[in-house]
Amino acid sequence: MSGAPSIDQAEVDAAVDAALQAVAAAATSADLKAARIAHTGEASPLARLNARLRDLPGPEKPAAGKLVGGARGRVNGAVAAREAQLLEVERAARLEAERVDVTAAPVRHRPGARHPLTLVRERVEDVFVAMGWEIAEGPELEHEWFNFDALNIDPDHPARSPQDTLFVEPEGAHLVMRTQTSPVQVRSLLDRGAPLYVLGPGRVYRTDEIDATHLPVFNQFEGIAIDRGLTMAHLRGTLEHLARLLFGEAARIRLRPNFFPFTEPSAEMDVWHPTIKGGARWIEWGGCGMVHPNVLRAAGLDPEEFQGFAFGLGIERTLQFAEGLTDMRDMIEGDVRFSRQWGLTVK
Ligand code: PHE
Repeated sequence: MSGAPSIDQAEVDAAVDAALQAVAAAATSADLKAARIAHTGEASPLARLNARLRDLPGPEKPAAGKLVGGARGRVNGAVAAREAQLLEVERAARLEAERVDVTAAPVRHRPGARHPLTLVRERVEDVFVAMGWEIAEGPELEHEWFNFDALNIDPDHPARSPQDTLFVEPEGAHLVMRTQTSPVQVRSLLDRGAPLYVLGPGRVYRTDEIDATHLPVFNQFEGIAIDRGLTMAHLRGTLEHLARLLFGEAARIRLRPNFFPFTEPSAEMDVWHPTIKGGARWIEWGGCGMVHPNVLRAAGLDPEEFQGFAFGLGIERTLQFAEGLTDMRDMIEGDVRFSRQWGLTVK
């Protein structure tokens, strides 16, 4: 064989040193794989040294073979050891990254709740819609004419004073925050004519101080029924029907004489609440009466042809004794814990 260079210790050591350095420097399994290919693969210095063994003269082969074999063994051993280390490090990092704290409080998406005033309002609307009535809403910023004049309320009636009513600027524009839902009576009559069966729920405003039983902004139901031949018996029957559905079969109503400028005769209505906390008793519920002929005239109707009844009930008050609530202020504080007591129930 012609002049194949012999294999010397220095050359082998250089290949091994380079390999061991690359293995030690590998920070990831991917680095290590690259180092392994570069230093033990087919094109590596050690593989080339190994290939040269074939060409050595016979007597040199055993020593050189041992030298190269030992070198390859050390490098392979170093690769295997580093691989075991890196796998352990990477496994620990993955476990840390995927760590789940089974004791952590879960993120809960609490469902909201509908306000009980909304539930009462919809319940009452359903009762009237089931009787064939329509639902109508008027504006909360109302013209004085609808809130007072058309309802037969004198220009000097005390309710028209700024002590009771919120007047809205500019002065002389005759705008008020409506003090009652009764303007819906006149608006519905003008819009729809007679016969008419309308329930008008909505917000009203008064200059009252807030306390357990009064809110300066509260809600009412206005009811108005106009047809030929309606009497107070129809008024009574309608309201008693509502009372029974809201407060149970044993509920009753009674009417006590009263005065409203827009009804004649007028009555205060009490409801006999059979299951109220503290024992069954009469509770003042709202105002009602037969629609005054002047109101029918203001809406362009002939009182000789059409008659009817109207009523106004407070929604907060209805909720208060339907649910045995002592303080109305709870209804407006916006604390979801209050609403959540009713959850999503629609009775
Ligand atoms: N609007 C009256 C009030 O707020 C209630 C009422 C309505 C009375 C309809 C009679 C008829 O006190």
